[in-house]
Amino acid sequence: MALARITVLISGRGSNLAALIDAANAGAIDGAITQVISNRPDAGGLAHAERNGIASCIVDHRAFATRDAFDAALADAIDASEPDLIVLAGFMRILGAPFVTRYAGRMLNIHPSLLPAYPGTDTHGRALADRATRHGCTVHFVTPDVDGGPIIAQADVPVLADDDAATLAARVLEVEHRLLPQVVGWFCAGRVALENGGVRIVDSPSALVF
Ligand code: GRF
Repeated sequence: MALARITVLISGRGSNLAALIDAANAGAIDGAITQVISNRPDAGGLAHAERNGIASCIVDHRAFATRDAFDAALADAIDASEPDLIVLAGFMRILGAPFVTRYAGRMLNIHPSLLPAYPGTDTHGRALADRATRHGCTVHFVTPDVDGGPIIAQADVPVLADDDAATLAARVLEVEHRLLPQVVGWFCAGRVALENGGVRIVDSPSALVF
């Protein structure tokens, strides 16, 4: 079977994109990153695409008067590459319901908290303010409910007494870089699917669960 074609959407540094590229290059994912799209022209992650010979483009949200217009341009860019899977990897724009519905069951997001705790932004600061003892990240299917789609997998880390938002973010990021390629690998191998609004895991090997 042909390798799954993966489009990755980013807004910034792109370390999760780099982790996906490394996993694909190592043969750990039955898929190829065939396209990277950033909504910010200055996203550092674009350099990872360039270094790896991956096609990239910018759909700058500031160039569009409405969310619908931005979403339509983004969909056109995505569809040009005919991806099997779209991964939101540090993509910091909220997408409208028609856009999300168009890609139902083939769009994943990584979020830096143990959802349903701390949807939205500043997850690390909020976990610290709450004196949470565990924190982490979640990979889920994207639905119109922002950060609320069906959860596929999570990885957790301890919150240490002397943590600040930066040290906690760094600890979470390390597990993001393992969890996201893992789940993308499952998706590309047909082991995880969105079904009736829930996650169906096929032949889930316990050794792969964090
Ligand atoms: C990650 O923590 C991701 O979960 C969050 O934003 C950060 C992006 O990091 N949404 P990077 O751009 O992948 O380095």
